[in-house]
Amino acid sequence: MQISHKTALVTGGASGLGLATTTALAAAGARVVVIDLPQANQDALLSIDGDVVFAPADVTDEVSVQRAVDIANENNNLAIVVNCAGMLNGFKTAGSKGAFPLDKFSAVINVNLVGTFNVIRLAAQAMLANEPVDEERGVIINTASVAAFDGQMGQAAYAASKAGIAGMT
Ligand SMILES: NC(=O)c1ccc[n+]([C@@H]2O[C@H](COP(=O)([O-])OP(=O)(O)OC[C@H]3O[C@@H](n4cnc5c(N)ncnc54)[C@H](O)[C@@H]3O)[C@@H](O)[C@H]2O)c1
Repeated sequence: MQISHKTALVTGGASGLGLATTTALAAAGARVVVIDLPQANQDALLSIDGDVVFAPADVTDEVSVQRAVDIANENNNLAIVVNCAGMLNGFKTAGSKGAFPLDKFSAVINVNLVGTFNVIRLAAQAMLANEPVDEERGVIINTASVAAFDGQMGQAAYAASKAGIAGMT
């Protein structure tokens, strides 16, 4: 795909893999709209040489993700989505400290799996209106983990969320 003059939406773009992806896409000539939590450190984003817009949103929130998608698609050329936002925690399923807290399990599933799907569905809906270029309306890339297939002790929630992303993709 031609990246130059396209708009990309990158989640978790203020740190790590998302920040590196944002930097690379901006260097390739894309306009990049970054979704990350409102409290995320934006310093690294501000230093990127390129067209980068911060759209604060929690990936699990329908309204703020729709707002970010609208910003990304304001020129009707949202063509790239890279889902990097994610979190993990560590609790044994059962043990001397008690059972894995169910709310902690749900939190990881909610951000990593439900949040990724929330972004996919709203971005894909916007991309449907794109005129196909080389038979493509756009591309969506999701981030799973080797943990999807071989999770470590204490990471039942993370492994389940990443297996969910692999299956969903
Ligand atoms: N780091 C690794 O070794 C590794 C290995 C395999 C997979 N991954 C996956 O790659 C992705 C990026 O990992 P990373 O190491 O760059 O992580 P990171 O912690 O550096 O960055 C994750 C970003 O996601 C954001 N985020 C978290 N919850 C969010 C939410 N609800 N809404 C919006 N943004 C949210 C964070 O603020 C952060 O900026 C994750 O999905 C992670 O599971 C990482």
